[in-house]
Amino acid sequence: MDYFRIGGGKRLRVTVEVNGAKNAALPIMAATLLGEGRSELIDVPDLSDIAVFGQLIEQLGCPVTRPDKHRMIIDATRVDRPFGDYEIVRKMRASVCILGPLLARCRRVEVSMPGGCSIGDRPVDIHLRGLRALGAQIHLKGGYIVAEAPKGLVGAEIFLGGPFGSTVLGTANVMMAATLAKGRTIIESAACEPEIADLARCLNQMGAKISGVGSPHLVIEGVDHLGPVRHTVIPDRIEAGTFMAAAVITGGRLTIRNCCLEHLMAVVDKLREIGATVEADGDGCTVALVGNLRPADITTLPYPGFPTDLQAQFMALLALAEGNSLIIEKIFPDRFMHVAELNRMAANLRKEGAAVLVAGVPRLIAAPVMASDLRASAALVMAGMAAEGTTTVNRVYHIDRGYEKIEEKLNAVGARIARENPNAKMALKEGDMT
Ligand code: EPZ
Repeated sequence: MDYFRIGGGKRLRVTVEVNGAKNAALPIMAATLLGEGRSELIDVPDLSDIAVFGQLIEQLGCPVTRPDKHRMIIDATRVDRPFGDYEIVRKMRASVCILGPLLARCRRVEVSMPGGCSIGDRPVDIHLRGLRALGAQIHLKGGYIVAEAPKGLVGAEIFLGGPFGSTVLGTANVMMAATLAKGRTIIESAACEPEIADLARCLNQMGAKISGVGSPHLVIEGVDHLGPVRHTVIPDRIEAGTFMAAAVITGGRLTIRNCCLEHLMAVVDKLREIGATVEADGDGCTVALVGNLRPADITTLPYPGFPTDLQAQFMALLALAEGNSLIIEKIFPDRFMHVAELNRMAANLRKEGAAVLVAGVPRLIAAPVMASDLRASAALVMAGMAAEGTTTVNRVYHIDRGYEKIEEKLNAVGARIARENPNAKMALKEGDMT
């Protein structure tokens, strides 16, 4: 397995470009299954999660081609085999969002029930509750969700809120299913994430009738048929937020292109509180640290609140602030695998239930650390860039799931990161890391 060797103490400078959003591209790939024909998606990031989902869609009988790195063509003229295999779903939970589109289009689908996850408990009970409300009969068989609606789905009023607020992929599944249901569906407490709004816009381009896009109150008038689409995926706000935090933790000044500030207001607000400047700049922004890092309290919330997918990265940042910060995780209360690893780098973090007290330290010290999930690995890379010495981050396959060649992008703006593999020792010698 590849690992990163990161030389610390380099300020990030100049300009970095953000890709299309993984968390918009995945449900939008599923949405193309509703459209009888060839759909073309633009700005699809080149990531392992996208490749895995492409394999799943191919298994359904829908050829997937990539004319170039960031374009994808999905031919959903026919769906021969509405079946989501365990071997693929276990690699990528978001595969569950084929459930709604295939149930609506094929009136029967079997999808492996997603298993455990390193960021915590992730049931799909709300997805199933919403689909049942549309008239689906659902049962579990050998670890597979079997959903059927032989006479088709019927519109309904559905409250989709859960113990942690709205559900992103749950909203995606139910909204996609409702597009082909008879009559009107109203979804209350729908997720408002920009990725869900992008999905709704894509569905409307395919001929769906969805109103209230971007709000918690969605109204969907069912239609008989949806067509293929040509759609450009929105920029990745989590990748952009990660680069913003990376600029600040290294004391650098970075311009981030293809970044929609509107989608990052809670994050920008926190960065300014911490002591950074964030200036709009063309199709992006420029971020820089002014003075010392100040402490700040963060509570993760559904959009437009502070995103849980930036919690780990901001914990690494606040570990170097002058004072104490409190981070409360309200979406995935167990999402703290990075805490022990950051403490190995001389951070001073104390976890208490779904909260971490971050007592700022003057410096982080390099150490070998282990990535456990996508965003935790981004936090460890950031800590490595700020630390004294050379840090080794193991299991970087996690980061490849959500960041396209991150080491190349960061090296292009001043970082010193080598991707190495125990079998092929190459790249930078110890001396080069300083
Ligand atoms: C999406 O996951 C994202 N994944 C996650 O990003 C992100 O962390 C999450 O939304 C929250 O913003 C994709 O879009 C592919 P949820 P999702 O359903 O939809 C509970 C990343 O790093 N819940 O909104 O699976 C659930 O356990 C990934 O890119 C139920 O209880 O998250 C959680 O506590 C990680 N029952 C909360 O709701 C359900 O049926 C929010 O989960 C569904 C969810």
